[in-house]
Amino acid sequence: MSQSEWPGILRRGRELYTRNLRPGERVYGEELILEDGVEYRHWDPWRSKLAAYLLNGAPRLPYDHPRRVLYLGAAHGTTLSHLSDLLPDAQLFGIDKSAGSFGALLALSHRRPNLFPILADAQLPERYLADVGSVDFLYQDVALRNQADVFAENAAATLSHSGSGLLMLKVRSVTQRRPVEAVVAESRTTFTRQGLRIVDQRSLAPFSRDHVALAVLRA
Ligand SMILES: C[S@@+](CC[C@H](N)C(=O)[O-])C[C@H]1O[C@@H](n2cnc3c(N)ncnc32)[C@H](O)[C@@H]1O
Repeated sequence: MSQSEWPGILRRGRELYTRNLRPGERVYGEELILEDGVEYRHWDPWRSKLAAYLLNGAPRLPYDHPRRVLYLGAAHGTTLSHLSDLLPDAQLFGIDKSAGSFGALLALSHRRPNLFPILADAQLPERYLADVGSVDFLYQDVALRNQADVFAENAAATLSHSGSGLLMLKVRSVTQRRPVEAVVAESRTTFTRQGLRIVDQRSLAPFSRDHVALAVLRA
């Protein structure tokens, strides 16, 4: 076991772990391990695209000491729970429009005081802007046809001038027909037009097929 190249994350071979904010508690049945008397949770890249992004060679974490984070497509909170481990002093706002998964997210937030779930449509940032305010890190993982536009709109509404973002682009939700490269190029153009500078592009294969991560800075 050793510290990884990403602060706060432990690595054993191809396995990643985050320090458990709630020792003794699992979020999705993950393995718990002890290292020097400290408990860590296994971070599954097959269930979390952020873990897949890091394992696929991300040069750095996609954020820099954020105090406020907006997470679009929080679902049951699998990935959000690892961000909650990594950023114990930040406020993490998790948006999802599904009432089905919202119960689990709400229950998770009762055990993790840095999580703030909001039941809302990510396509309508004006509905949650007053609650979320300005954020330093924007993360999006929603299977929408207009994913890049939704990300750019949320960035324009909430991302601070020194902020960063990460879009997990699900290409096959945009189109079934056109090549992956064409969809990625289109998303890059959308971002550039909206003043977002792309600093990293990375496939999430084999963990998530037809997914490409785009890391941005507010230019
Ligand atoms: C792939 S899952 C997210 C998994 C999660 N990011 C994780 O890693 O733990 C996609 C989620 O996006 C949500 N979603 C889809 N369209 C949405 C929208 N317009 N606004 C908010 N959430 C949306 C779905 O309800 C679903 O929970």
